[in-house]
Amino acid sequence: MGTFDTAGKQVEVFNYGVVRQFSIATIFWGVIGMAVGVLIAAQLIWPELNFETPWLSYGRLRPLHTNAVIFAFGGNALFATSYYVVQRTCQVRLFSDKLSAFTFWGWQLALVGAVITLPMGFTSTKEYAELEWPIDILIALVWIVYAVVFFGTIAKRRVKHIYVANWFFGSYILTIAVLHIFNNLEMPVSWFKSYSIYSGVQDAMVQWWYGHNAVGFFLTTSFLGMMYYFVPKQAERPIYSYRLSIVHFWALAFTYMWAGPHHLLYTSLPDWTQSLGMALSLILLAPSWGA
Ligand code: HEM
Repeated sequence: MGTFDTAGKQVEVFNYGVVRQFSIATIFWGVIGMAVGVLIAAQLIWPELNFETPWLSYGRLRPLHTNAVIFAFGGNALFATSYYVVQRTCQVRLFSDKLSAFTFWGWQLALVGAVITLPMGFTSTKEYAELEWPIDILIALVWIVYAVVFFGTIAKRRVKHIYVANWFFGSYILTIAVLHIFNNLEMPVSWFKSYSIYSGVQDAMVQWWYGHNAVGFFLTTSFLGMMYYFVPKQAERPIYSYRLSIVHFWALAFTYMWAGPHHLLYTSLPDWTQSLGMALSLILLAPSWGA
């Protein structure tokens, strides 16, 4: 889509530059993350492939694999598509080119930090939240700016309606901010070591409230946002039922949040919490399959 400046030169209405950058980064990190996956998979059969080197050991490379495929491969894909979809469905350029560029470079910096620190053995030990506190702060900052760019774009939209894909992207951005910040509240004791402010079973509960919803909102809600735009677009048909898509959104967003305790069955987590978590996990089957 093009428009013309005062000199008659064609300029892009939408900011596709940052979408392109995130798309290229998706491919780059996908290759790295999956290559590390192949290496650790091979180590499960041939343990000697760690070459008796601590930074090539399974325990250090497994979190590198999960962080790289989820946050680097998946995350860059989500930045790219959410920025693409929000501009097209709102018929307006991104809220700020500078802030969106900040999210790109800030996110890549955090990922490079992961590639360096995880093999060195620096870890907070929380699954999918292993990164230490300086990187956590950078991630929080990038994420808040991401929210400003995304919701700022929605606020200045040219169409009245907010298309359902943006509801999914919006809830993923809001929820991940809350999950990341509260699960990573920690007391630094040095530049690369911190301790969680929660202890015992409460720490476990907060961790799996985070871990479960990281899958729920980073890997499910957000990718559903992607699907709600690209599937109808490719099929050249409207969504089968727009009404159902809204029901699906609220059912998923409401139920997912409660299911974390199913990661802690038969532990010292209070019985009622486990039962409540299980009941809501069963209810969650409906909206998660309903998609
Ligand atoms: C070439 C492709 C891939 C290979 C060879 C691979 C390999 C592996 C291996 C060996 C593990 C550790 C299993 C264990 O500790 O028992 C693992 C875990 C994991 N991988 Fe991958 N992986 C690949 C792609 C992906 C992708 C694309 C994603 C997501 C976007 C992903 C997400 C995960 C997650 C979330 C875990 C942790 C699972 C758990 O603990 O239950 N992987 N992968």
